[in-house]
Amino acid sequence: MNKRFYLTTAIDYVNGQPHLGHAYEKVIADVIARFQRSAGSEVYFLTGLDEHGQKVQQAAVTEGSTPQAYCDVLAASWQAFARKLELTNDEFVRTTQSRHKAVVQAALSRLHAEGHFYKEKYEGFYSAKEETFLTEKDRLPDGSFPASFGEVIRLQEQNYYFRLKDHQQWLIDHIESNPGFVAPEHRRNEVLGFLKNNVLEDLCISRPASRLNWGIPLPFDPDYVTYVWFDALTNYISIPASQQDPGVPAYLTEGSQPGAGLPLWPADLHIIGKDILKFHSVYWPIMLKAMGAALPKQILVHGWWQKDGQKMSKTTGNVVDPMVLVDEWGVDAFRFYVLRELDIGGDGNWTDAGFKARYSAELANGLGNLVNRSLSMLKRYRQGIVPAQSDELRPDAEKVVAETLELLKGNRLQPALLSIWSLITRANQYVDQTAPFKLAKDPAQAARLDEVLYNLAETCRVLAILLWPFLPGTTCRIYEQLGLSGTPDSRTAVAWGGLIPGHAIGTPAPLFPRKDP
Ligand code: MSP
Repeated sequence: MNKRFYLTTAIDYVNGQPHLGHAYEKVIADVIARFQRSAGSEVYFLTGLDEHGQKVQQAAVTEGSTPQAYCDVLAASWQAFARKLELTNDEFVRTTQSRHKAVVQAALSRLHAEGHFYKEKYEGFYSAKEETFLTEKDRLPDGSFPASFGEVIRLQEQNYYFRLKDHQQWLIDHIESNPGFVAPEHRRNEVLGFLKNNVLEDLCISRPASRLNWGIPLPFDPDYVTYVWFDALTNYISIPASQQDPGVPAYLTEGSQPGAGLPLWPADLHIIGKDILKFHSVYWPIMLKAMGAALPKQILVHGWWQKDGQKMSKTTGNVVDPMVLVDEWGVDAFRFYVLRELDIGGDGNWTDAGFKARYSAELANGLGNLVNRSLSMLKRYRQGIVPAQSDELRPDAEKVVAETLELLKGNRLQPALLSIWSLITRANQYVDQTAPFKLAKDPAQAARLDEVLYNLAETCRVLAILLWPFLPGTTCRIYEQLGLSGTPDSRTAVAWGGLIPGHAIGTPAPLFPRKDP
């Protein structure tokens, strides 16, 4: 291992409310981070906030606050949100931090000095809501602009542009020769289709400070601030650079203090939603290449959630508030549902009925019931003392362990959960088939009862380890009820036979209280 496994999420706009979509992405990242750690990798998991731009500036003014004070208040609630989801992020980046701003400016200076930018007058349409210039291609067939752009105004101004055309062919070659660069495959095809069928327009990388001052000043022209996307994308490398990461070009690390640990850059994984694919798979690789930095290994693109078949929107009240759900159902139920319901890549539809159905069938009646009856019977029939080792469920467990680990290595979270649940179903069937409650009534069946009880308790232990990245709190409770110390966070412990005969388990208690009326 010569570097840390470095993964990132998109950085959320600070002025939005944390919702289901944000939570989903962060939970995906957290499960992958935890899985990589449990597999023995050193991991660095970065998430954070995108704090510059016109919307933040306007919102702060409306509230009679300064943009920085406004961001500070909101950042605290986003960080509380991350804790609520039990994210194990190693850092939380805010684009208003000086460590980030210094790197953005160093990158801009270098790119400017090397002739990647030019200044030009623009006259055309501009959407303040999206902070973007519009072209004829953005018009609807009737000539109007889509409502998502909000009010569209005519604008005339000078700005700096990043020359992109020269980068088009190498980027196509890179994506073609690195099949895993954008995943899943249909997203990769989308990017390739876009790159092959369009000539890349140069990217505007500035906004006049007279119109927008809540941004990072261009180091070579103080009349301008940096376009938010140039600023935001750079967060992925600014944090390694601020630790003098050896993988980052030296000119970006100047003035920073060395951090500890193995190198971070290039990132192993950027996890993002489908709406920001172009920024990550076209602009970001080009920016990095121009900066002289290596490209990330993979961009993993997830789909979007709707609620009850409709776009989530604050104005219509059609939102899922992850904080409320976590308070009512527990963080693990939330983490489980979003990953079990939606495979990474597709779009999903949240329904409260669907959530409750999975809670009841898969968590309470599936996992919860298995653990509770297995440990309760061990307690009742054997005073909680683990009997001699027996290997009847071992082949089933070993098959699922191998399958799950393979799936998790490929970031296939939903298929991994399906595989794990096949073991839960198998073990629940085993209880029904072997009927330990009947065996317990017949002293001649004592040895058989021992076998059954060992197999069940050991399967619960294996499940705790497999499920730890997904359900950290629940699996710690399974460990506790098994009388095991520590956390089920090491993959090496998953080998069958870890429960030692003679070991005394703890006290069984329901993992997922039933909520049926
Ligand atoms: N600030 C930019 C990202 C900059 S990354 C260098 C941004 N922020 S965002 O708050 O609008 O979105 C953050 C992430 O949440 C994005 O990956 C986005 O796709 C995701 N989601 C926002 N709404 C979503 C759903 N309804 N469903 C799933 N994910 C969604 O874009």
